Amino acid sequence: MTAGPADRPQPDDRLSSLRGARIVLGVSGGIAAYKAIELCRQLVDAGAHVSPVLTKGALRFVGAATFSALASEPAETSLFGGAHPIPHTRLGQGADLVVVAPATARVLGSYAAGISSDLLGATLLATRAPVLVCPAMHTEMWQHPAVQENVATLRRRGVHILEPLAGRLAGGDAGVGRLQEPEAVVAEAARLLAARATAVSRDDYAGRRVLVAAGGTREPIDPVRFIANRSSGKQGYAIARAAAKRGATVTLVTTVALDPPPGAEVLEVETAAEMAEAVLSRAPSQDVVVMAAAVADFRPAAAAPFKLRKSDGPPELVLEPTPDILAELGRARRAQVGKGGFAPVLVGFAAETEDLVERAGEKLRSKGVDLVVGNDVAAEGAGFAHDTNAVTIVSASGRVDVPLASKREVAEAVLDAAARFFDPSTPSIAPEKESQ
Ligand code: CTP
Repeated sequence: MTAGPADRPQPDDRLSSLRGARIVLGVSGGIAAYKAIELCRQLVDAGAHVSPVLTKGALRFVGAATFSALASEPAETSLFGGAHPIPHTRLGQGADLVVVAPATARVLGSYAAGISSDLLGATLLATRAPVLVCPAMHTEMWQHPAVQENVATLRRRGVHILEPLAGRLAGGDAGVGRLQEPEAVVAEAARLLAARATAVSRDDYAGRRVLVAAGGTREPIDPVRFIANRSSGKQGYAIARAAAKRGATVTLVTTVALDPPPGAEVLEVETAAEMAEAVLSRAPSQDVVVMAAAVADFRPAAAAPFKLRKSDGPPELVLEPTPDILAELGRARRAQVGKGGFAPVLVGFAAETEDLVERAGEKLRSKGVDLVVGNDVAAEGAGFAHDTNAVTIVSASGRVDVPLASKREVAEAVLDAAARFFDPSTPSIAPEKESQ
């Protein structure tokens, strides 16, 4: 019986970026390798050109013949003896995306250490395409510090990690470590390819340097406690990623470890003072500085050197102001006006629950910056921890409203607004404050 139109996979618009995309599908040796068969099929159904690469371990769980039958090319399993003399460079250089699913602890470790002892390891080092790694292993292994450090290293280098789920594991165990379902991997692959396509089509930040400060600072009370805030860092990371896609060289000064853009310089900090040092020392060489971080306004004047004990009663916290990094940037730039040295476009954020535009405007003037992104943290679906945001971007010459949109879209709007200042005729900080 032949399949009628209703039986055939229907094209899904959200997966359109997969059409024609060249994907290397790396499969390593875990029981979840069986799910990679379905993943391979779904990628091919969505129109991708899939080249499977199986490790020796994978071959203990699944057969190369299965992948060869489903994929666009025969499965490759070895650095040597195949049809192509240098298979890893052919695969790595030709890929639009590399997906590793499942990724074992060994694969994560080799990749983090730069070891190229098999075809998959060598391909991962030979590619400049985005890489999506989907780990799967037993909970104890996933939670082992060695594995977590390897994951953190890969993230820092811009590798996208699709974290394993909690659920049933091999041998009747249960816990975190289960490979994400093929549908989720396919959706993430489509998202990465779509983002890459946008990047290819826009390069207005090519040759520009952009520094983004992201996340909330943590101000120590004693060695175990700190004052923090609800910032997730997601909007800052979205701006960093969007800037990189538009061609910028990106520096991220951050208190949180999310997925940074490939190639970004990432500086992890904790306190307002550390963030101030990292931002202020690098700002002079930047074209744009975005303070998306939620910097604590006050910190304990002196952190206790030892853990405070409950038996000593409630501590009396004496707070002092932190350095206002954005205002300091505004001051430093004003001091340089006319000297031609330090002139990055300065972008601040204002998290507000009321009078958003007025307060954002006040911050624009008082801090002497070019743009303030007024962030309506009271709006439904906006602000902390959400993947969406609603903002008004205020400048000396007007405002742009971005109603509820993804943080990526908000990031693009912020970069659009900042890019206008690359044109020297765009009015900068409000004139009446320039002399203050
Ligand atoms: N900021 C900074 N350094 C600080 C505090 C804030 O650089 N010590 C930056 C933030 O990254 C953000 C902007 O300044 O870009 C927010 O301004 P701020 O005056 O701190 O906002 P609020 O704390 O919300 O101020 P207020 O309570 O006065 O509304």
